[in-house]
Order: sequence, then structure tokens, then C-alpha cells
Amino acid sequence: MQMKFPDGFYWGAATASYQVEGGIENTDWAEAARAERVPVCGRACDHYNRYEQDFDIAKDMGHTAHRFSVEWARIEPEEGKFNQEAIRHYREVLQSLKDRNIIPFVTIWHFTLPLWFSQSGSFERKDSPEIFARYAAFVVQELGDMCTHFSTMNEPNVYGSNGWLRGSWPPFKRFRLTDSVSITNSGKVFESKASKGLKPVFTYFRVMKNLAKAHNTAYKAIKRVSPETEISVVKHVIVFDANWNPFNKVKAAFANYVWTGIFMNRTHKFCDSVGLNYYFYTQFGDKREWRKTDMDWNFAPSHIYDALMMLTKYKKPLFVSEAGLADADDSGRAEYIKDQVAATWQAIQDGADVRGHMYWSLLDNYEWALGFEKRFGLIEVNYDTLERTVRPSASVYKEICTQNAVVE
Ligand code: BGC
Repeated sequence: MQMKFPDGFYWGAATASYQVEGGIENTDWAEAARAERVPVCGRACDHYNRYEQDFDIAKDMGHTAHRFSVEWARIEPEEGKFNQEAIRHYREVLQSLKDRNIIPFVTIWHFTLPLWFSQSGSFERKDSPEIFARYAAFVVQELGDMCTHFSTMNEPNVYGSNGWLRGSWPPFKRFRLTDSVSITNSGKVFESKASKGLKPVFTYFRVMKNLAKAHNTAYKAIKRVSPETEISVVKHVIVFDANWNPFNKVKAAFANYVWTGIFMNRTHKFCDSVGLNYYFYTQFGDKREWRKTDMDWNFAPSHIYDALMMLTKYKKPLFVSEAGLADADDSGRAEYIKDQVAATWQAIQDGADVRGHMYWSLLDNYEWALGFEKRFGLIEVNYDTLERTVRPSASVYKEICTQNAVVE
């Protein structure tokens, strides 16, 4: 059976600045690495200098779109002082994509913060929405003539929960009860002493509220400088499902509301489209033994369908901004990609207005608190020589991209 995608569907892969560029030292993550709380990122893939070569490979692989992020700490290294050199660099990156007919999707902020902002309280600050909006509007003002798709932020819920509940990411705040409900693998819990009482939970909710407000304020600020720009939020959706048990069904509905509903309810009116990052399916009451990815996550690519259908409620164009797996020996990636693309096609048949699909990731990269060991790339990176090798599964994805269809 041939599953054809709508004309003009965007096909590509995604990266994020800190995970691939290298040489970024003025962020909260670099500071945490110096304090030996997370692995050192260092030169990463040196994508900052090698993006032309990487985009040549993306082009050869049939990609027509590419999602990447710009680094806040490069662009605004001091509060309110913007660095034109960084802008020049990202304009060159955009030009290089244009030269290859690859449509850019730019994420304005993907997890890492400039030190001046992290050290002064980051999103706990009352004025953080305005600070973020000023930066976001500046980015679009400077790059908006070369790109029409911007996302304000990547995965606010992952960012907030790892940093303010799990304690595995900066600023390493930890609420003890989270240990028992945490289902993703985001690195070791750093703070051995969790704070007592409910205070961290209140702080977490305040941060989440500020993140939503930051998106909404940025949306309005961007529209003032560039009304035509398409603005999205990139939302990580965990699909919480349930077996037959009604109690489990209530639990799943509640978990979906807490993880996805609250943030989307607060922001969807200020989204022209929504990006979906899908990695995770879990079922309450499930007795099955799941095959696992290298992240120890359930191998469940077809449940991207549920994640997309969950987002149709907001009645916006959608795009898959990330989905993929860590698979060092590339033994399951081709199957995973085919299944996730087929499920995306099915979601389109069932009413989801999906416009594009970006595999995570173009390159192997720095997997946050887990360092460089996990291999998500269509392109393998040798971190000693920085040599790039295209993985066999990339050719299966290439066929999908060039045919604009998946054949089963
Ligand atoms: C993030 C990426 C990360 C990927 C795999 C997403 O949560 O946006 O930065 O590398 O998932 O864990």
C-alpha cells in the first residue's frame, strides 16, 4: 500500500544549537558541566563550523526542510546587549539552507540559557516573560526576512520538570515525590537532598506559568515586528494510555491533562501552528514486555498517531518537530521511521492537519545529562575525528522524503 502525503509536505530532520554546535561556554549547562553536574559538551559535533557539510548530506538525503535552534547566549550574551556577529552567523546558516532549497524552521530557545539570565533566577523571575519576548522579537526582526517558521520554545514541560522537579537538569531543583512517578530517562538526579515540603511544587507551577506567559508575550512582540511570521510552540507530548480498567482511564486522562493540556490551554490562542515532539508512549495497567530503544523507552513509533490526534483539539496546523530514537547499531531505526511516518499519514487521513515531519536528529549529538553516548542521528558522528557517516536507515528515510510517500 502506498501512503501518499499532501503536496508540499516538509521532510527533514532537526538539531538544537547547544547539542551540536560546540564552543558555547556562557550558558547554564556549560556552567553545570564545569561544576561536574552534567557531562561536558565541548566542541560537540562542531556543527558551528561544519554546517555546510552537514546540509550537503541533508540535501543528498532528500530533505526539503530543516529545524534548528539559535543560541540565546550567543545572541544576547549580556542582558539587553545583542551580538551582531552571532546574527551574522545564523544568517549564513539560513543562506546555506536556502542555497540548497531546504526550508528552515527556527527554534528561538532550546533549553540552554545565557548565564546572566540563569544566575538571576531565569523563569522564576517575574519579568521573565518580557525578557524572553524582547529576545524572541529581536531574533525574528533580524532573521525574519530569511525564515517564516519560528518556534518560540522547545518542550517547556520537559524543561520545567527536569529542572524544577526531577533535579537532573539546571537549576537542579528537586521534589522528592517526583522520583516515584518519573518515567523518562533524563540523567541522574543530581541533588541528593530533595527539598522538604511542597514549596518546590509551587515554584515549578510558577515556572510553568511564566513559560506559558513567555510564549504568549513573545508571540505578541514578534507579531508587532513581523506580522506575517508563523509562530509555534514545540510541545513534547507523552501519550498516556490505559488498559480496560476505568480507574486507569481516569489516571491517563489526568496525566495527559497535566502534561499536555494545561500548557496548551494557556498558549494555543497564541500559536499559528504547533510542533509535536513525540518519543514516549506508556499505558497504565500494561502487562506487555516492550521492546526498548537505547534510551530504555518503549519502542512505540506508531503511537505518534495518538499524540497528533490529541493535538487536533487546538485546530492548528501541526508539524512533527521531533520524533526518533537512540539506536547506536541502527538495527531498529528504519523500521521505527517507517512506522512513525505511516502513523503520521494515518493521522492526516483522520483529520490531523500535519504539514511536515522532522526526524530527531540529523546528527548524533549531546544528549543533555546523558552526554554523547546515545545515538539519535541519521548521520553518525565520530567524536574523535568529527567524521560523518550516513547510517543505512537514512536511505530508507530518503526514499520516503523523495517519494513524498511511504510504501508498506
Ligand atoms: C529534545 C532534544 C533531545 C531529544 C531526545 C527532546 O526532548 O528536544 O533536545 O535530545 O528529545 O531525548
